Amino acid sequence: MKALVLAGGAGTRLRPFSYSTPKQLVPVANKPVLFHCLETLRAAGIDEVGIIVSGSGAAVRTAVGDGARFGLDITYIPQEEPRGLAQCVTLAQPFLKDDDFVMYLGDNVFVGGIQESLQAFRENGAAAELVVSKVADPSAYGVVEVDPEGRVTGLQEKPVRPASDLAVTGVYFFTPLIHEAVAGIRPSWRNEWEITDAIQWLVTHGHPVRAHAFTGYWKDTGTVPDLLECNRVLLEDVVPGNEGVVDNVTEIVGPVVIGPGARVERSRIVGPAIIGAGCTIEDSYIGPYTSIGSGVRLGNAGVEASILMDRASVHDVRSIEASLIGRSVDVRPSTVPATAHRLVVGDDSKVEVPA
Ligand code: G1P
Repeated sequence: MKALVLAGGAGTRLRPFSYSTPKQLVPVANKPVLFHCLETLRAAGIDEVGIIVSGSGAAVRTAVGDGARFGLDITYIPQEEPRGLAQCVTLAQPFLKDDDFVMYLGDNVFVGGIQESLQAFRENGAAAELVVSKVADPSAYGVVEVDPEGRVTGLQEKPVRPASDLAVTGVYFFTPLIHEAVAGIRPSWRNEWEITDAIQWLVTHGHPVRAHAFTGYWKDTGTVPDLLECNRVLLEDVVPGNEGVVDNVTEIVGPVVIGPGARVERSRIVGPAIIGAGCTIEDSYIGPYTSIGSGVRLGNAGVEASILMDRASVHDVRSIEASLIGRSVDVRPSTVPATAHRLVVGDDSKVEVPA
């Protein structure tokens, strides 16, 4: 059993972050989303992994390496231009050969793992097993119709009028029959080779396709609110620990992780929260559900329910919440008169200031 992880794509909904980093490398709970995916695969007993990367995939290769630290053997498969999930299967065919495989979208997080679904795939002997989950807005996803025995009878990609509330999540188990299916489809209206069309091809040609309901927490981390929610859920399980230096006037409440070399002085930290290695936190408040990367500096700052990436800094601003702050970003009060805002902000950023 191999895994095909998709870590290409443009990440347009995650601009400006996706300009400088593939969306799969944005951190939640201080770990790139892609690392959560690789750990989930390893926990399911899979160790041969192909990763589809955009272009040369330099950033992903640098972050993940040969996979040894995850206990994985990794092969990189470049994709010049994103043309759909089924195109990824075609590109990966020389790696996948005639093996069964799990296709895993590298921006998806499954809390609780995928072992049960893998087990269902092994027991059912279907041509494909889709991991599905009930969602409030099925029109944003691939949607399946399932009969009472769990057999998929039809699929639609992002339907205007969904036939059910069961969304296809980012994990699919396939037998090699999927290659025949992919060869049998045409590009969609958006000029992509859709995996839902290939799966529909299996159904139409009489091959059994099954759906396995995932009951744990699943998130496609495609947008900033999704990332913040996922961060919150992952922090619920944080195991507290302190490898830094905390002075005796700092108050720590609830589960908090403090990384090696971090220094915390005259502050109040309410967990669940993570503070990365080498941070300097002075006279600040860090509220629940906050992940702070490495080398971050906070001085007289207040942040809550947010993600601050490596080397960001906040000084003398005390009411930051539900925010995603990129690497080496500097946040501080204005030095111009109180009625003006001076902004140096990259393309597609979003800034909210008091009216
Ligand atoms: C893709 C699939 C869709 C699936 C979703 C899950 O959509 O095309 O069927 O429901 O992933 O995350 P995308 O996120 O590429 O729009």
